[in-house]
Amino acid sequence: MCGIIGYTGNANAVPKITKGLSVLEYRGYDSVGIAARTEDGVRTVKCRGRIGMLEEKLEKDPIVGSQCAIGHTRWATHGGPSDINAHPHRAGRVVLVHNGIIENYKELKSALQKDGVSFLSETDTEVAAAVINACYAQTGDPKTAIRMATAKMKGSYAFGILFDEFPGEVWSARCGSPLILAKAKDGYYLASDMTALLPFTKEYCCLEEGQIAHLMPSGAELFDVDGAEIVPVWSVTTMTPESAQKGGYAHFMLKEIYEQPEAIEKSVSPRIINGLPDFSADGIDASFWKQVKNIQIVACGSATHAGLAGGHVLESVAGIPTASYIASEYRYHPPIAVDGTLVIVISQSGETADTLAALRYAKSKGLPTLAIVNAVETTIAREADYRIYTYAGPEIAVATTKGYCTQVTVLYMIAAAIAHSCGRIAEADAKEMVRSILEDAPEAIREMLTQTERLREIAAKIVKKDHIFYIGRGMDYAMSQEGALKLKEISYIHCEAYAAGELKHGTISLIEEGTPVIAISTEEALYDKTESNVREVHSRGAHVILLCRDDAKNPQLSADEVVLLPTKSDAGLLFASLTVVQVLAYEVAALRGCDIDRPRNLAKSVTVE
Ligand code: M6R
Repeated sequence: MCGIIGYTGNANAVPKITKGLSVLEYRGYDSVGIAARTEDGVRTVKCRGRIGMLEEKLEKDPIVGSQCAIGHTRWATHGGPSDINAHPHRAGRVVLVHNGIIENYKELKSALQKDGVSFLSETDTEVAAAVINACYAQTGDPKTAIRMATAKMKGSYAFGILFDEFPGEVWSARCGSPLILAKAKDGYYLASDMTALLPFTKEYCCLEEGQIAHLMPSGAELFDVDGAEIVPVWSVTTMTPESAQKGGYAHFMLKEIYEQPEAIEKSVSPRIINGLPDFSADGIDASFWKQVKNIQIVACGSATHAGLAGGHVLESVAGIPTASYIASEYRYHPPIAVDGTLVIVISQSGETADTLAALRYAKSKGLPTLAIVNAVETTIAREADYRIYTYAGPEIAVATTKGYCTQVTVLYMIAAAIAHSCGRIAEADAKEMVRSILEDAPEAIREMLTQTERLREIAAKIVKKDHIFYIGRGMDYAMSQEGALKLKEISYIHCEAYAAGELKHGTISLIEEGTPVIAISTEEALYDKTESNVREVHSRGAHVILLCRDDAKNPQLSADEVVLLPTKSDAGLLFASLTVVQVLAYEVAALRGCDIDRPRNLAKSVTVE
């Protein structure tokens, strides 16, 4: 939620900020702005809308000669999207951009108002700027002002700050929201996310909670939570600028769907020794898995769905009772933990506030925590006791595809590891699980991607509908939930997933002539039962699209459209059905002319609770 960037050095700052903002746009895209230090002081240009609108404004009235600037792309929380609410915000001698929420902004605001301070916007950010400005007026020292001011704030923040009396310097502070410091030959940078800095540098350092950074053209200082100077520890990212670009695809989402086979291979290969699952490179050995008696998976959105799918495998193969919880509920109604409970948090971004809060809650209760995360070195990855990276590469589209795909992949490998280390399956079966996820899953995805034309035809038949239903049983119900979320998230068509057997308990009354019902049926043992449910809706007028095993008998008898899935293994079927639900969502959204990579009201990284 919201992306911030800053630069100071010996190069032209404005194109760097706008370039970085265009990459950060996935974090929020309802307004955008820049504040650049010029010979005449700090100049701010901001507007409601996207980076293109800011660029148009800057073309008409350029900022020249600036080598120090901060920028922001917004996902509105306090105050709707507008020119006035857009960041940066100025208060007195301070100009600031902010990612996060100042929860006690109302108290802070009324205290400042009593002192005669007035405000232009409805934002909590302008209040933060005013608090820092008031402290700066007392001390004249940026670092002390930031420390004094942040001590008064409750909530989360990553700030980029310019002080009028300190030209060429960017100050920054972090609590709860991500912030990366980076160095290059031409100066120093800060950003919410490393992908925004890939065009400029690969050397970075993650700010820890409570740290303050001071960027100058010739160096950067870092201060710990007590204000003592510490030496930044620089790392080099393996990401490339190309990995954060569309590479010829119409949308990031499509590119990321096509990247899934490789993403699976990358997530699985480092975790195989002698054909068996092995997480020792992640610091987890067989004895760790042997202690696990119960698993609570905690995540948000699609990551929760990955937990549901993974939970099926963990229960059916490894025999471990597993439940998947919505992170924003977990703290308020915590499930009962038993001896041997492991909490697995799943997050593509590694920064989702609800998931992070649930992780912290689990840790506070003394439960061991394992994070499955894609973005390396992120807060969730760093705070969990153990971490397993999914190696999907940067995921830019708001709708997750390869992120989800690799989360399920890792859970599948964990299930194989637990089942094998606890002697619940034979070595040959564990090897077969690994082989099937490494070979059949990518192959099944590639095979389904040869059928995009057919899926586009199906999409054309449902594109004008107002309501669509997904149904399935067992693992297929978990996949239905992911399919329904994907479809409604990017096409804005109302879509719900139901356990196939549950329809007749109420929902079937919604079926009328032509209502699309997408039925998934991959489990042989459940095929006949799901087929009965398909017949029930078909005979009541539903337009049934059946995704089923390619060895199913006469599937066309009960469905209007049939998509056959290659039946090599459970893993192959799982990822074949995933590909179909993703491509269907994509094609429907494309036919409706939706903004696929940036659906309305959403942001990629949800860093507010
Ligand atoms: O970064 P995370 O995996 O923690 O994000 C969790 C959800 O916000 C995310 O999966 C969301 O549901 C997706 N936009 C769905 O496509």
